Amino acid sequence: MGSLIQLKGAAMLNLTTDCQAWAAELPGLYLDVFTASEGEAEGRAVAALVVELLQSTPKCDLMGALALDGDVLAGCILFSRLSYDQDPRQVFLMSPVAVRTDRQKSGIGQKLIRYGLEELRQKGISFAVTYGDPAYYEKTGFQPITIAFAQPPLPLSMPHGWLGQSLNDEDAPLAGPSRCVQAFNKPELW
Ligand SMILES: CC(C)(COP(=O)(O)OP(=O)(O)OC[C@H]1O[C@@H](n2cnc3c(N)ncnc32)[C@H](O)[C@@H]1OP(=O)(O)O)[C@@H](O)C(=O)NCCC(=O)NCCS
Repeated sequence: MGSLIQLKGAAMLNLTTDCQAWAAELPGLYLDVFTASEGEAEGRAVAALVVELLQSTPKCDLMGALALDGDVLAGCILFSRLSYDQDPRQVFLMSPVAVRTDRQKSGIGQKLIRYGLEELRQKGISFAVTYGDPAYYEKTGFQPITIAFAQPPLPLSMPHGWLGQSLNDEDAPLAGPSRCVQAFNKPELW
């Protein structure tokens, strides 16, 4: 899995390239953050999703970025591959995103997303999609996209939350149907 940013206050200090050692802490982070924001059931569901993502996703299909404040895990984003077999471009889904409850609204989420997208770009990923609140994700360059522009892997219950951004200069629609990784292949997540 990916990389991390070191945060002190709101400043990005430096980068390293290995966050495997932090993987064991991620389900707990997501459990705490989503329990606080959405309730216990959602907290458990997102934590279970993260466990399955970490356990079942091939290495080449999963990336992540962590925000560390000293030795405290302040936030995490995960990216998993969305395969468009009829399109030559590589596409990743950004989800889920969590910033520690006591560190929210201090810029960490946006910094982490921008950092993660830049890492993707440098790895040759052409397009990023996410599924969430446009009001938040538009702050980091995501725009609403239609299901004709990029077919989701499963039917969307909230099509207005289907968002994307090109990571290179190409902004043509993505061709054909898509496949998500196993952990996301559940209708209730969409
Ligand atoms: C959503 C989340 C990742 C944002 O991270 P953050 O570090 O708190 O956000 P930032 O400090 O970068 O950005 C704060 C800005 O986003 C806005 N914002 C934060 N969460 C928002 C949300 N869910 N919807 C809309 N706007 C939101 C704030 O009002 C603030 O706006 P301003 O800059 O105009 O004042 C974080 O609050 C979180 O983990 N929430 C709980 C889990 C969650 O909802 N995850 C996203 C779905 S996968």
